[in-house]
Amino acid sequence: MTRDLELINLTKKYGSIIAVDNINLYIKPGEFFSLLGPSGCGKSTTLRLVCGFEEPTKGLIKIGGNIVNDIPPYKRNVGMVFQSLALFPHLTVGENVAFGLKLKKLPKDIIQEKVIRMLELVELHGFENRKINELSGGQKQRVALARALVTEPSILCLDEPLGALDLKLRLQMQTEIKRIHDKTKNTFIYVTHDQGEAMAMSDRIAVMNKGHIEQVGTPREVYEHPQTKFVAQFVGESNLLMGKCLDGNKIIVNGFELKGLYPKDFFNREVYISIKPEKILVTKHHYVRKFDNSIEGKIEEYIYRGDDTIYKISIGGHFEILARAQTIGGQFNKGENVFVNWNIEDAIILPKED
Ligand SMILES: Nc1ncnc2c1ncn2[C@@H]1O[C@H](COP(=O)(O)OP(=O)(O)O)[C@@H](O)[C@H]1O
Ligand SMILES: [Mg+2]
Repeated sequence: MTRDLELINLTKKYGSIIAVDNINLYIKPGEFFSLLGPSGCGKSTTLRLVCGFEEPTKGLIKIGGNIVNDIPPYKRNVGMVFQSLALFPHLTVGENVAFGLKLKKLPKDIIQEKVIRMLELVELHGFENRKINELSGGQKQRVALARALVTEPSILCLDEPLGALDLKLRLQMQTEIKRIHDKTKNTFIYVTHDQGEAMAMSDRIAVMNKGHIEQVGTPREVYEHPQTKFVAQFVGESNLLMGKCLDGNKIIVNGFELKGLYPKDFFNREVYISIKPEKILVTKHHYVRKFDNSIEGKIEEYIYRGDDTIYKISIGGHFEILARAQTIGGQFNKGENVFVNWNIEDAIILPKED
């Protein structure tokens, strides 16, 4: 049965290192939830605490409403898939999948039946007697998933399970894992440092930084409405300008005046302005009637990437803007004078915390 997970003031210290710093999180039953953040931010430690491989320094872990702090890993009913997969190379596919069930001392025919059903779910029927080292990377991945799912955990933790795969296989396995999630309706907690992966797969994402959670939200919320400078920079590329809020929705950036919508209490304060490169239109001509900001600049350099082009544009030496342009509509050249255009609702204004 699928269950929810609640972390309350969860903290894990290793000596003076605070790996997990007072996390509060509620994950719904059946949710596909991702922990996203750079290496070392505490993602794996959080999963190990949930599974019971580590003891918290402080705080509570609740599964299905019950505190599990003192319950050993094998009784928590939480499955784990590691990046290294940790399959038994000398055992067959079937024996690997059956492993957890044998520990539970289930009858042989029931084990057999469950293993067959699980191999069908991950589309490996007929592979039962293969050795692990006779499988491709993607197939091994699916065996690891089957082995974790066969014990019917109420929560499945996946720690960067696709980290070792090449891009094409990774995209394929993302779809595969989503399909399995949809079929099992299990609670999945997925750890990744890849924002594209988290966006593509998750119902909700917690963005982590230095042991704490910066923001929790749907992929669209964290992408379009970052609440902190860290989230703005980590989730997708962003232009980040430093400015000061003046009267009449004006923000001054290095002596240059922009229009921007900011909350009243930001008046006279220092802020960051975060704008995604794809929200900026580069034009040959002034476009002031359609855009709130239409300002002149010069193309400093560009990177042609086939499906789009990234332009770096200098705004009269005041600041630089990155803009992403679809390849339709022609190409601008280095040194060309252009206008960069964006609307105030596409610029996120964040307080500059000192
Ligand atoms: N067993 C451990 N002993 C000491 N420090 C650890 C241990 N495990 C993790 N850490 C430290 O805790 C922090 C978080 O690590 P981790 O949870 O593995 O991050 P992530 O999975 O996000 O890369 C890091 O600074 C790491 O070095
Ligand atoms: Mg990790």
